[in-house]
Amino acid sequence: MAAGEGLALVELDEDGVATAFRADVLAGLAQPQKAVPARWLYDEAGSALFEAITRLPEYYPTRAETEILTERCGEFRELIGPGRAVIEFGSGSSVKTPLLLGCIEPAAYVPLDISGDFLRSAADDLAAKFPGLPVLPVEADFMREVALPRQVRELLKLGFFPGSTIGNMVARTAVDLLRSMRATLGEGSQLLIGMDLIKDVSVLEAAYDDPQGVTAEFNLNLARRINRELGGTLPLGQLRHVARWNDTYARIEMHLEAAEAIDFEVSGRRFALAKGETIHTENSHKFDLRSQNTLLLAGGWTPRRRWLDSQGWFSLILADWTIPRGAP
Ligand code: AVI
Repeated sequence: MAAGEGLALVELDEDGVATAFRADVLAGLAQPQKAVPARWLYDEAGSALFEAITRLPEYYPTRAETEILTERCGEFRELIGPGRAVIEFGSGSSVKTPLLLGCIEPAAYVPLDISGDFLRSAADDLAAKFPGLPVLPVEADFMREVALPRQVRELLKLGFFPGSTIGNMVARTAVDLLRSMRATLGEGSQLLIGMDLIKDVSVLEAAYDDPQGVTAEFNLNLARRINRELGGTLPLGQLRHVARWNDTYARIEMHLEAAEAIDFEVSGRRFALAKGETIHTENSHKFDLRSQNTLLLAGGWTPRRRWLDSQGWFSLILADWTIPRGAP
């Protein structure tokens, strides 16, 4: 049996609501800077909105990363080689994963995701595109070490973590994740990871505040979800989507900002936002070449090769499992 198979990973309380969602929202709204963890943006509607974001002209990361995967196929083949088990952290996208798998002749493909539904549909799509390739989905929280299916234990691994999802974590959490990946993948493994780059603030802010308002809908959907699932009374018409560059932390921050002073309830508790006060809903860190290296090294990965897209806006990095050695 694959690790995690048959386990219900999401604990529900008596109202059928994820206990962790209620706890995170109530704790986050009680802080001086109100904040809700970004993972709660991705209910069914939020995931569909994120898919729509990836097709926006202003949202360059998906196109840039796809360009690199397409253009550098020969180099991936040479540096990664055939016969590895590809372990993807998060359910594979229908576009990027086949590009990689088509290049390197893997021995197996293991998508890891906490959400069983996305996982199974992504795995079915991939299995249909690559008949003969063992596709072994594992439902698991990959922020911790994951026990991989028996069939791939003896194979060398390639971890795949595209999309600059690592940028949605603060540095400490990102390092924890890289170290968990290191433990999951084991000695001799490689990691192919997408990391977005620092660039002109106007380009960054447009990517997170598009004129069509799709990213605004994605952000506001969190308030809608709180109202629906947690008995919330957040007035959607009084909340504004804000995406702004925070230069100190090198990140785009998404917030929901109160256009007027508002009082509201969540799960029977009362909260208030003053005019202009915000609920912080997401961080998207951007990197320069040195900060990428520092983060990867802190996580136990030695950068080996880096590719940029033709505009120099996004990077894909191949890193090796760092062999432990004494340091001066
Ligand atoms: C999933 N993640 C890498 C996206 C990003 O760019 O940080 C999420 C996103 N948020 C707003 N637009 C896209």
